[in-house]
Amino acid sequence: MTVASAAVGSVHARQIFDSRGRPTIEVDVTTTSGVVGRASVPSGASTGTHEAWELRDGGDAYAGLGVSNAVANVNGEIASALRGFDVLDQRGVDTVLVALDGTQNLRRLGANAVLGVSLAVSRAAAQSNDVPLYQWLGELGGGTNPSLPMPMVNILSGGLHAGRGMDVQDFLAVPASATTIDEALTMVGLIRSAAAQVMAERGLTTLLADEGGLSPGLDSSEAALELMVASFERAGLSPGVDAVIAIDVAAHSLWDQQRGEYNLAREGRRLGTPEMIEMVCSWVDDFPVVSIEDALDEEDWEGWKSLTARLGDRINLIGDDFFTTNPIRLQRGVDELAANGVLVKVNQNGTLTGTLDVVAAARAAQYVPVVSARSGETEDSFISDLAVATGAGQIKVGSVRCSDRLSKYNQLVRIAENGSLPFARMDAYPRFASVRASA
Ligand code: PGA
Ligand code: ZN
Repeated sequence: MTVASAAVGSVHARQIFDSRGRPTIEVDVTTTSGVVGRASVPSGASTGTHEAWELRDGGDAYAGLGVSNAVANVNGEIASALRGFDVLDQRGVDTVLVALDGTQNLRRLGANAVLGVSLAVSRAAAQSNDVPLYQWLGELGGGTNPSLPMPMVNILSGGLHAGRGMDVQDFLAVPASATTIDEALTMVGLIRSAAAQVMAERGLTTLLADEGGLSPGLDSSEAALELMVASFERAGLSPGVDAVIAIDVAAHSLWDQQRGEYNLAREGRRLGTPEMIEMVCSWVDDFPVVSIEDALDEEDWEGWKSLTARLGDRINLIGDDFFTTNPIRLQRGVDELAANGVLVKVNQNGTLTGTLDVVAAARAAQYVPVVSARSGETEDSFISDLAVATGAGQIKVGSVRCSDRLSKYNQLVRIAENGSLPFARMDAYPRFASVRASA
């Protein structure tokens, strides 16, 4: 049953703490009938320049990272503007929020303030209708087929998530032969444990990185890829068949703007764009790699185009800092044949409606979407419902450690419980069959 309307009674924000112990914002939207929708906002470390603006206080308190101004913007201006507004009209709410801010990147009120409200409104709407969040988000997204996403799960971390212990930021496992979300999580749990075991045997440190992955501090990407394969085998899984590899290079954090080259400091090498592309191609030739994110810098458009021409029919090439969940950048990518997939991060965009529109645009252009968390997270599992609702087919929320990560996986388990939704399996990897054949 759909209720006709549900009016915003009050909007209240507070400062809470994220998985790195840094301040972030949580918002409660309460309807006049007393329904409360709550949401909190994540935060990245390896951020793209074109992300919506995260408003921080600066100054001495909380090392400058306080969000009291964002909280005040919610409790003042935004609460006044939305009082009495229908929470079922998500697009209307988000239009009001964006107009009230008045800037291109939500710099005035803060994308963290705006997003917290936007997400909380949708939760209040779902609850007012007495339907699960994913179902309500599906109605807002319109016409998509919901499914449980295949997870890509962080096993080894480097870059800004692990004290630059490795140049490349993430090596992830995709449990390719899993037929249910439960099986997928079981398999990646085994891989994560096997990796720790192999690393301990090799005398490598098994320190935890920001997303719950391991931080071996290896001095080459090939060594990390070999360790991934060894971990699959130790877990009793066949590399290239049962489990495959995804990589997030996060190349923006390697880019040396002044010298116009990529600085692989840990490897002790500096590479131009053509050499970066050669390196990435060699990974795909030598290892069962099915997806690479941000292989090149966010402004290296020519590089992205050549890389896509080289690898676009073999693997998924995902733009994270490259697209920043921004419809204009995604459209340019589509027009110029750069990348073939897009990472979807709600706080890069700033509103729920804006995010749903990016997923719809990606789908229309046959770009695969990957719904993603940030390295700084809270216990909020909103993106799990978002990934299911949009039928994105893929989700990336970190390792199978730490409750900020498990809250997302466990929400998928809960959603799967009634048995009515299909598991996406490898559907989002249209090129997987050929990779498997050559593995
Ligand atoms: P971030 O990392 O949240 O630190 O940006 C996640 C990613 O790069 O995908
Ligand atoms: Zn990334």
